[in-house]
Amino acid sequence: MTDIHSLSNPASVRVTTIALDLTADFDSHTLAGTAVLGITRVARGERVLVLDTRQLRIEKAEISETGEQFEDARFELGKDDPILGTPLSVQIGEGARFVRITYATNPAASGLQWLTREQTAGKRFPYVYSQSQAIHARSWIPCQDTPGVRVTYSARIHTPPEMAAVMSAANGRTGSETGDYRFELGHPIPSYLIALAIGDIHYQSVPGRSCHGVAGRSGVYAEPEVLGRAASEFEDMGRMLEACEELFGPYRWGVFDVLVLPPSFPFGGMENPMLTFATPTVLAGDKSLVSLVAHELAHSWSGNLVTNATWSDFWLNEGYTVYLERRILEHLYGKERAEMEAALGRQVLEREMAELPVGDQILQVDLAGRDPDDGATGVPYEKGYLFLLAIEQTFGRERFDRYLRAYFDKYSFQSITTEAALAYMREMLFDADPELAGKIPVEEWIHKAGIPASAPRVRSVLFERVDEAAKKWNAGATTEGMGTAEWSTQEWLRFLHEMPQGLGSAEMRRLDEAFHFTESGNDEILAEWLLMSVKTGYAAADAKLNAFLRTVGRRKFIKPIYEELAKSPAGRERALGIYAEARQGYHPIAQSSIESVLKLKR
Ligand code: BES
Ligand code: ZN
Repeated sequence: MTDIHSLSNPASVRVTTIALDLTADFDSHTLAGTAVLGITRVARGERVLVLDTRQLRIEKAEISETGEQFEDARFELGKDDPILGTPLSVQIGEGARFVRITYATNPAASGLQWLTREQTAGKRFPYVYSQSQAIHARSWIPCQDTPGVRVTYSARIHTPPEMAAVMSAANGRTGSETGDYRFELGHPIPSYLIALAIGDIHYQSVPGRSCHGVAGRSGVYAEPEVLGRAASEFEDMGRMLEACEELFGPYRWGVFDVLVLPPSFPFGGMENPMLTFATPTVLAGDKSLVSLVAHELAHSWSGNLVTNATWSDFWLNEGYTVYLERRILEHLYGKERAEMEAALGRQVLEREMAELPVGDQILQVDLAGRDPDDGATGVPYEKGYLFLLAIEQTFGRERFDRYLRAYFDKYSFQSITTEAALAYMREMLFDADPELAGKIPVEEWIHKAGIPASAPRVRSVLFERVDEAAKKWNAGATTEGMGTAEWSTQEWLRFLHEMPQGLGSAEMRRLDEAFHFTESGNDEILAEWLLMSVKTGYAAADAKLNAFLRTVGRRKFIKPIYEELAKSPAGRERALGIYAEARQGYHPIAQSSIESVLKLKR
């Protein structure tokens, strides 16, 4: 299979190992050093290795048969593509088994965000972190940047001595005195899972069963100001990991840690192996947003162990992961919690789907000529989830679980296409029971727009109560007897979703006075409320909205708010004013999304 989002040539020569030696320079905002790539020849006689790069300054290419003595090699950067970057061709002759590239990153590398000290919690040290998914690894590592190619990797990272480096790999000798850090990951992973962060980063473990008599397997990394809060928020992580093993089989990655990033991190979470990256906006103080940890942890099976071969197969990563995530929630917190998350997911999917072009409503999406980040809609997540739920409900959980475990075993440490995944599903489930299989319109699920009529209904008993309360509230009832004191974050979100469109300022004030949404310490609730405030012109939330957009860079929160603002000329003016100041705090990925919303580009 070929990946249209890579310019490299793994079908001829394949990179199997990467050894990095990089120095971080916080003045020039560059990583500079070398990458030694171990290669194997797939096509006999192939003399050229082609790598993906984006805005890299290539100083030198060398080749070696042993990995010790290197000699200069001819290399050439090809034509630049606005989405895919620039192919780098290296003449590898007949016998070379290693290629060493000496290079430096661009200060505007799409896969790195360099933060000033003011943008951190402690304000003492600057910070840098990577975000490689989908095709940003090539902006900081010359590599075959396709999820179809897997590598083991090692790294030496040189940092200013007062800062610490962490990676998605086992942390070898720590360099806290010298700023010389070493990392190693022995399992083959796709390039989008190579990750690095450097800053005033400290560690605290969380409770959990010990591994071979050694201390627990889980902990959090964060700036000291955030560390304690993060450790208590994620206190159940050890138990979560144990639950996963019970459900899906052994955890293959050794430790599972979470790095809590500064608020500009553009995603909720990123499943970097051994070290999930997470937004601080999940630190709600009551563990109510830990489904994010469940999600990223679940990727240790679906995504990191069994990986989508191309970005059109992205639903294999995310759909399976949402399914596993909800199984974890059910196991740890009960059926009601999982049902609420599923019902919220369905509601959000339906709203988003109504606005999506039909081509983007398809599970195996066609991304020709597009940035794969465009494919990261709710469809691979929630429609993918519903597809798997339909199969689970049709064949029964026992059979489905057996299939899941077999799937993770059979394809562990491999990258697979939708076709391969479906073939295995047929073999393991459908062929054995054609009658049940007949109830699942696979073709429609995978290749047609919309949600099949036969899709499972997700019903939440708790939400039925919330909906009742919302109805009464909208009919003018007081808060008395609403039972909101016991409501969870999910119930509050549902309540807000159930408010009618076109609420006036007076109704917004009535809500705010009763429930203090503008002062909510829960960013998930706050983001929803701020969005409603823009829609309804509720000015009392203006100051909060300005502050939120200036500090938080999580795209899922800020993009809809900018979108809503951009709907009116006055709102767009306001958005431009906020963005002018907020821009430098946003990640390149978020900047690019906001700029297209505000029509500042293309
Ligand atoms: N792998 C994704 C994040 C991602 C997807 C980054 C595509 C770049 C391109 C991660 O596992 C994820 O899905 N994160 C979600 C949170 C999750 C709880 C649904 C997010 O960031 O919102
Ligand atoms: Zn995910």
